[in-house]
Amino acid sequence: MRVAIGPPVRHFRSWISKGTIVSVKVETLILFGATGDLAQRMLFPSLYNLHLDGLLAPELTIVASGRSKMDRGAAHTLVRAALTDHLPAERLDDAAVAAFLGRIDYCSVDAGAGTGYDDLAAMLGDRLGRPIGAYLSTPPSMFGPIAQGLKAAGIACTECRIAMEKPIGHDLASSHAVNAEVGDAFAEDHVFRIDHYLGKETVQNLLALRFANMLFEPLWNAQAIDHVQITVAETVGLEGRVSYYDGVGALKDMVQNHMLQLLAIIAMEPPASVTSTAVRDEKVKLLRSLRRMKAEDVKTHSVKGQYTSGAVGGAAVTGYADELGRPSNTETFVAIKAFIDNWRWKGVPFYLRTGKRMPERKSEVLIQFKPVPHNIFARVGAAKLDANSMIINLQPEENIRVKVMAKQPGLDRDGVKLKEVTMDVSLSHSFAGERRRIAYERLLLDFIEGDQTLFVRRDEVEAQWQWIDSIRDAWAAVDLTPQSYTAGSWGPSASIALIERDGASWHD
Ligand code: BG6
Repeated sequence: MRVAIGPPVRHFRSWISKGTIVSVKVETLILFGATGDLAQRMLFPSLYNLHLDGLLAPELTIVASGRSKMDRGAAHTLVRAALTDHLPAERLDDAAVAAFLGRIDYCSVDAGAGTGYDDLAAMLGDRLGRPIGAYLSTPPSMFGPIAQGLKAAGIACTECRIAMEKPIGHDLASSHAVNAEVGDAFAEDHVFRIDHYLGKETVQNLLALRFANMLFEPLWNAQAIDHVQITVAETVGLEGRVSYYDGVGALKDMVQNHMLQLLAIIAMEPPASVTSTAVRDEKVKLLRSLRRMKAEDVKTHSVKGQYTSGAVGGAAVTGYADELGRPSNTETFVAIKAFIDNWRWKGVPFYLRTGKRMPERKSEVLIQFKPVPHNIFARVGAAKLDANSMIINLQPEENIRVKVMAKQPGLDRDGVKLKEVTMDVSLSHSFAGERRRIAYERLLLDFIEGDQTLFVRRDEVEAQWQWIDSIRDAWAAVDLTPQSYTAGSWGPSASIALIERDGASWHD
């Protein structure tokens, strides 16, 4: 086994300073779960893109780690295949790929058995005690044990940090336990909990939309807004993730993390700055204001669904239970009517829905404004005015549309005609020349550089679980089972009823 890895460490201190954040850069990145799907599809391609754009310090060495035993050459073959399979050909440059592979070493660690840490420490050599980032793309049950394994092997120095994929636990109590076990090895300001939605450019753009413009903020409250809809619809089904997904379901897989982060950014109070503490303080306040679900409300405020066979994008697809090979009570769709109990949002419903095997892939936020207080056109022909709405498309399209009333041209002898027209801002068009980065490029770079703004703090994740637990408890109390919906539809009919009871309808 090679003992010294990477170029000699020059014992440099590379500081970055962003806002109030001053942090030291990671010199060695250990990637646990390096042979897994996420690493192949996202992490190695993202790291390569950063390398190609000159954003990684020459000293940065990557130690790929997995349970399998393999040598450096075999690991390079794996990474090379990941780059070829998941990056456009024009990004692949032979010399750059070779230089990128030159940064990568491999060390087998069996996190479950707790073996291999000594070899890892030996491989790190004089890098030990210097800034190391451990990135855990492993089953969540390994988060605590790996943090402890690193600590025991002396790989959790004060400038070392750890990043973890979701989920952190499966309820509040278990998330406490994971956070405590990780927190015993790494201080909270060195723990980076990933929600990859926060790495998406369009999600960060929500901050710009709300807080870099004067236009919206005065209307962003219960006086002007009737309701908000957040939809994250996917066309995919289980995608070979049976062992993970069944028993987890849409509420824990999508709402607990991605949708609550979107909700928090849409609804939080303005932070004083974009530093990690200021932004996360506001998000956590918002998450704690979510009204807990009660058993007596759960049937009118939530819907669970599970897809049966149908067609998506013109292709026939099998139902969830058939894909699974047995009946299951796991929900692949959920719709929730949520309330935020604070001054700004008193009485404003937030309708959330997410599902697999929907007719199209789209993540969208709709802000439905209230009607004008008095219609001055009522007596001259326009009896009804449509209330304004704003639709923010996050993916796959990136655009913002505002629907406003306008007068139809004419002499109006038969009365004034008003019509809804759309103001359309296409971000894909406005920023056409910019390469859209993979969310993980941003997250990996921030992790390496030590900026926590786009990572989830412990109190946030625990506030998320607190609300999710109230829904799970209420579901259990009334024994709510998923209703079926045909693959390729917008979910069970009860989801339509959930919003239409309030006189609104989903924006499909
Ligand atoms: C993951 C979920 O966190 O997000 C998946 O586990 C889901 O079930 C995915 O498909 C959606 O991410 P994106 O970036 O494709 O919207």
